[in-house]
Amino acid sequence: MPADFWSLQQAPKLDQKQFLLWQELLEKRTGMQISEQRKSFLETALTLRMREISVADYDAYYEQLTSGLSGEIEWSTLVDRLTVQETSFFRHQPSFDLVRSHVRDLFVHQPNRRQVNLWSVGCATGEEPYSLAMLMDQLIRSVDGNRYFGVTATDLSLPALAKARKGVYSARKVERIPQIYRDRYFQPVGKAQFEIIAELRNQVSFSRMNVLDLKAAPMLDMDVIYCQNLLIYFKNQRKKEIVSHLAERLAPGGLLVIGVGELMEWSHPRVVRYASDNTLAFLRKDDANRDDAKNESAKTARREHG
Ligand SMILES: C[S@@+](CC[C@H](N)C(=O)[O-])C[C@H]1O[C@@H](n2cnc3c(N)ncnc32)[C@H](O)[C@@H]1O
Repeated sequence: MPADFWSLQQAPKLDQKQFLLWQELLEKRTGMQISEQRKSFLETALTLRMREISVADYDAYYEQLTSGLSGEIEWSTLVDRLTVQETSFFRHQPSFDLVRSHVRDLFVHQPNRRQVNLWSVGCATGEEPYSLAMLMDQLIRSVDGNRYFGVTATDLSLPALAKARKGVYSARKVERIPQIYRDRYFQPVGKAQFEIIAELRNQVSFSRMNVLDLKAAPMLDMDVIYCQNLLIYFKNQRKKEIVSHLAERLAPGGLLVIGVGELMEWSHPRVVRYASDNTLAFLRKDDANRDDAKNESAKTARREHG
C-alpha cells in the first residue's frame, strides 16, 4: 500500500455490525461506553491508528487486536487513544480539603498512628496523586514530622503512567498551583517545564490497573481512596460494582472520595455517606468513634474553606 494511501482518505464509516462489535469489545475490556454520538470519534481514532501501522480495514484491525501477544501490545496503544486523560493539579479543591481534614483528624484521634495510605484510582498523567502527595507532605510538616504517607496511583493507560512517573509538567500547568506547593515541590527543567522533586516522586508508586479487575487488586486497608472523573465513562451498574470494590479496600475509618454527581443511588453496608455539601464521599464505619470525628472534620473543612 503506498505510504500516502491513508492520508488521502477520510475515516471510513463503520457499518452497524462493525460498530456493535467494537462497542462490545471496548465495553468488555475497559468498561468504556461508546455511544452512537461518539461513533465518529471512534472511527477517527481507529483510522488514525490503522494508518500508523498500515492496516487496511476495521475488520483486519479487529482481528489483529483480538489475537495473540502482539494484539495485547497494540491494544494498550489503542486504549490510550480512546481514553480521555484530561486532568489537572488540585482539580476539585473541596475534595482535597476534605482529604486534608480527614487525615489530620486521623492523626489527632490516633496519636500513635505513623502512616497513612492513599490511592488515586484513574490517576492519568499524575497530577492527582502528586496533588495528594503535596497535600500530605504539607500536612505532616504542620502536625508532626514523624509521620509517613504513601500514595498508590493506578491507571489503565501505559503512556499516561509513563508520563506520570517522569513527573515533568509544562509551566502552564504548574503556574496554577498555589505558590507554597510550587516553591517546595517543583524544580525547573528544560524549556518552560517543571519537574516534581525526587523526594515527593518517591512517595508515589504508579502501576497499571484496570478497574474492571479490582477483584484481583492487591490494594487493601487504604485510608483514602480518591476516584474522580473515571466513573463517568461506565454504565450505572458497572459504576456501582467498581465503587463497591473500592469500598471493600478501605481501612476502618477510611475515606472514599468520588467526583460530585458521578454516582447515584449506591449504598454499601460498610460505608456511610460523609456529611459534606460540595463533595461526594463515604466513610468506612467499622470504627464507631470515627463517626464523631467525621462530622467534626466536615465542620472544620466547611469553616476553613467556606
Ligand atoms: C479523565 S481522566 C481522570 C484523571 C483524574 N482522576 C482527574 O480527575 O483529573 C480518566 C482516567 O481514567 C483512566 N481509565 C479509563 N478507563 C479505565 C479503566 N477501565 N481502568 C483504569 N483506568 C481507566 C483513563 O486512562 C484516564 O487516565
